Amino acid sequence: MSSAMERYDSIIIGAGAAGLYAAFHAGRRGRRVLLLEHNAKVGAKILISGGGRCNFTNLHAAPDRFISANPHFARSALARHTQHDFLKLIQKHRITHYEKTLGQLFCDGARSAQKIVRMLLDECAAAGVDIHTLYRINSIQRTDRFIVDTMMGPFESETLTIATGGFPIPKLGATGFAFDIAKQFNIPVVETRPGLVPLTFAESDLAWMRPLSGVSADVIARAGKTEFREAALFTHRGLSGPAILQASSYWRKGESIVIDWLPDAAEDALAARKRDRPKAQLKTVLGEFFSERLATAFAEQLPQGALGDMKDATLIDAARKLKAWQLTPSGDEGYSKAEVMVGGIDTNALSQQSMEARAVPGLFFIGEAVDVTGWLGGYNFQWAWSSGWAAGQVI
Ligand code: FDA
Repeated sequence: MSSAMERYDSIIIGAGAAGLYAAFHAGRRGRRVLLLEHNAKVGAKILISGGGRCNFTNLHAAPDRFISANPHFARSALARHTQHDFLKLIQKHRITHYEKTLGQLFCDGARSAQKIVRMLLDECAAAGVDIHTLYRINSIQRTDRFIVDTMMGPFESETLTIATGGFPIPKLGATGFAFDIAKQFNIPVVETRPGLVPLTFAESDLAWMRPLSGVSADVIARAGKTEFREAALFTHRGLSGPAILQASSYWRKGESIVIDWLPDAAEDALAARKRDRPKAQLKTVLGEFFSERLATAFAEQLPQGALGDMKDATLIDAARKLKAWQLTPSGDEGYSKAEVMVGGIDTNALSQQSMEARAVPGLFFIGEAVDVTGWLGGYNFQWAWSSGWAAGQVI
């Protein structure tokens, strides 16, 4: 081992949300921290998040809004470093923000996500964190310390934190690095798949869906036992929009999803209209509930005719169909369109207090690389902050 090797207390790989957050919390404790990033810039996903305004947390963040093979794992970090703690930092940096909907907090102004990255970089600078970008990692070795060999030479540290995120959006620099390291150290991984991702459909469904591309509707989307009331959006490949993205994280290939297109109407809503509008065609009455394009598309798949000519039972069946419309996606749009990854480093292998690998003292995993996946709406950043903070207390 060369004596010229630079020594740190703590090396963190991946300068995204979790890595930057862990770095300055460790630096504040007086630890000498090195943050290594292979991209030219840090925080690439923060910059594009929330349409450039970064939905940085959610007022309702709580463990039940996260998916994990072990739903209790995230409790400790989320409780010890909450959305309110993150908000204090936002306020300290005078970053103006607003609640868009459902507790989702966004920065104010076009491209305001930059302010979050600036804030994290300022905190890192104040805490004396060294940040090296454009550093590729060749290998990691563990003796009594960690040796991180990079294209610019090796570094040595007491602790090593992997904050390289998940597979979504490879063109932003996403890699499976965390899982290569997991393999090297025999740490189990829960099978990964895209989450918060648009769903695709076979040609037989697309025949009626594709002409609706661009149309959205307020729905309840159900995948298994979980349901979300938000907008669904038809795309040229199937369905997207917040309700569908949320359901996609719970959906497994081969399963169906169920959509309630009439979330505010009872099953007798169409039969009740028969008394007021007996001569009206079903399609016309559907226009009271839906945009014209959607009403036409649904009418083509329901009994045709005037309401007065239909039995109440037929109209109740039609409303039931609209309230429990079963669809079987053929797939999803994959990691190039997914906002998050479901699965990741098996939480049974980690300490829920510190994120340290139980079998490899000194090795930590934080952020999206871990098998904790948030709902849409600022939850995934909150997990990055909470897990980064938890590691930052000990690395
Ligand atoms: P993150 O991916 O942020 O950072 C990982 C870092 O590691 C990156 O800088 C990467 O370049 C680096 N890296 C990877 N491999 C490496 C290697 N081999 N060597 C060195 N460095 C390496 N969430 C939310 O709560 N609110 C929102 O508004 C949004 N919006 C949003 C929009 C879009 C388009 C996407 C794709 C995602 C979101 N998200 C989101 C999700 C959120 O961005 C995501 O969950 C967090 O960024 C995860 O933070 P991490 O720090 O774990 O990974």
